[in-house]
Amino acid sequence: MKWFEPRRHAYPWRGTSDPYAVLVSEVMLQQTQAARVVPAFERFLGRFPTVAALAQAPRADVVRVWEGLGYNRRAVALSEAARAIVRDHGGRVPADPEELERLPGVGPYTAAAVASFAYGATIAAVDTNVRRVVARARLGREPGEVRRDTIDDEAGRWLDRGHPAEWNQALMDLGREVCRPEPRCEACPIAADCRSRSGSRRSRMAPRRTAPFEGSMRQVRGGIVRLLRRRAASVGELAAQAGFPVERIVDAIGALVGDGLVVADAAARAGRATGRVRLAD
Ligand code: ADE
Repeated sequence: MKWFEPRRHAYPWRGTSDPYAVLVSEVMLQQTQAARVVPAFERFLGRFPTVAALAQAPRADVVRVWEGLGYNRRAVALSEAARAIVRDHGGRVPADPEELERLPGVGPYTAAAVASFAYGATIAAVDTNVRRVVARARLGREPGEVRRDTIDDEAGRWLDRGHPAEWNQALMDLGREVCRPEPRCEACPIAADCRSRSGSRRSRMAPRRTAPFEGSMRQVRGGIVRLLRRRAASVGELAAQAGFPVERIVDAIGALVGDGLVVADAAARAGRATGRVRLAD
């Protein structure tokens, strides 16, 4: 949870508990990377700020505003979901995961995510990234080696019942940034308790493939500048949104500061996730 702290506001949908906004973000995040969802999410909510607005909009408008996200069937499903919410739930996004799952485009993961993030339900939201973290950290196995039910049950036992929304999102970030298919155990906040890591370090890990793709310095720098063009950010936010580990972000910030492109405060220069960074004037 301490590791998650600087990421708590890393995405616009984390600043809201509006269930409709959470539902929109989760449907977008089903098949699109978080960094690409950010501008689309803001555009979509600007155009359709409420369930009622979305329910009334012609389908073609919804698909048009969905542009850039791909998998346009999701836009149609979201439009149908908004209509069902107005028709069957008085315009209020349901809080019960079972009712959420009856909405078009909402599967078990999205239902659990909305129930937990928007309503604080004590339910584990288990997506692919979380499944990988749980399988490794708790079961000492790769996700493909264990039944999905076994992983999902363990995710439920592991859930922090006092802070389910933060816990679920912390595991998502951990899976995306650190516990990747090719894990970065040296940057992992729970390495000491990880069942895959203790004992023989890599023994149960996926075999190292040739030349893992981690993003060149140029890509990391490009990602940072792209995000800072929109607004100033903390190192932790940049790591979460660009999808690179904090250390890579810190290295790239050093280079960008050296080039006069970026201004970083003392905490950012010291490599702290809470340090602030902005584009140079
Ligand atoms: N992926 C799915 N839901 C997410 C969330 N709330 N934050 C970050 N990544 C996510």
